[in-house]
Amino acid sequence: MTSFALKNGRLHAEGVALADIAERFGTPCYVYSRTALEAALDEFLDQLKGCDALVCYAVKANSNLGILNLFARRGAGFDIVSGGELQRALAAGADPQKIVFSGVGKTAAEMEQALAAGILCFNVESAPELERLNEVAGSVGKKAPISLRVNPNVDAKTHPYISTGLKENKFGVAYEDALALYRRAAALPHIEVAGIDSHIGSQLLDPAPFAEALDKILQLVDQLAADGIHLHHIDLGGGLGIRYSDEESAPSVKSYLGPLLAKLAGRKLKIVLEPGRRLVGNAGLLLTKVEYLKPGEVKNFAIVDAAMNDLARPALYDAWHDIVPVAPRAGEAKSWEIVGPVCESGDFLGHGRPLALAPGDLLAIMSAGAYGMAMSSNYNTRPRAAEVLVDGDTAHLVRAREAVESLYALERTLP
Ligand code: LLP
Repeated sequence: MTSFALKNGRLHAEGVALADIAERFGTPCYVYSRTALEAALDEFLDQLKGCDALVCYAVKANSNLGILNLFARRGAGFDIVSGGELQRALAAGADPQKIVFSGVGKTAAEMEQALAAGILCFNVESAPELERLNEVAGSVGKKAPISLRVNPNVDAKTHPYISTGLKENKFGVAYEDALALYRRAAALPHIEVAGIDSHIGSQLLDPAPFAEALDKILQLVDQLAADGIHLHHIDLGGGLGIRYSDEESAPSVKSYLGPLLAKLAGRKLKIVLEPGRRLVGNAGLLLTKVEYLKPGEVKNFAIVDAAMNDLARPALYDAWHDIVPVAPRAGEAKSWEIVGPVCESGDFLGHGRPLALAPGDLLAIMSAGAYGMAMSSNYNTRPRAAEVLVDGDTAHLVRAREAVESLYALERTLP
């Protein structure tokens, strides 16, 4: 990763020293690199050159307007899962014709909102959702373009919390039920069958399950065609993993897409992709300061000013994030528990990290661009961190640190 590198013994984001960002904007602070964000999107666009394809960035991974806007400017579309994400994407300059709407719980109001915006496609996840969408579209005098999200029952071999393509998951329509539901959709007056969709899980480091899922989906596409139901696009979902530690290696976009594109060659299907993590994960880090060192008999604790409310992934999934000093110091490394100030034993960012530390040191929690800020909370009445987007030698504040007053501004005491 060249966007975050040591220069003269100090860690930089592109041309800006992280220590300068900490001084100017405070900590904890999310720092993103424009170059890394654009390079990640370009890795997809390069592979898709010459194809009728659309990359719909999964907004849930990181919904900052500054990031959405950079992707929109480069022609990306967006995969949204709520009316809120729709509003955000539009505010960031998204083209509604490049938006797909996923999610198992779309409300009637969200459907109306998306129909009014004129989105590309609703990824419908159940029979009752299809019926509701037909009614809502009828009530506003529109036809709703749909894909069914089909659950191919493929094991993504990833963390159970982020695996979505198995029968036991709540997502999508069972493979065996898809044909009948497509027939129903084709018969509904306010539904227009546009495509087919599947998403099998997240952080996949082995591309094989994607190919397995596609084979099953293509069988269905052929059965549908034999039934007179012709599709315009195929949405392959997201899920391509990133490298979080040196022990992992993530497949290139080429080795992920190559086999899929080969299977799709000769078919007149527009390709839609929904990558989230892969576009933003390694383009961001969480900058934090060591408040106290608390060496102990059994464990040594380094208490930093970022916590599980800022980055939930370690507490929630036992996820690994590299933790590196912003200005590595000489001296003997000790094994540290990197923990936050939140009152929970699960509030940790890393276990047993060998580091030479002193109070006041800055640390970078790496690969925090995806599902970092987007999953943060105000637990313990902690204002959410600032977000900074670095573009060359310039650091732009793309979200100000929250003010404590704003955290209780909507609350009232009894008369
Ligand atoms: N499309 C759909 C329908 C999804 O449900 C997801 C992610 C994506 C696309 C994007 O997947 P990605 O390319 O980012 O893997 N919070 C978890 C990850 C949850 C993923 C949920 N769905 C984490 O921090 O690992």
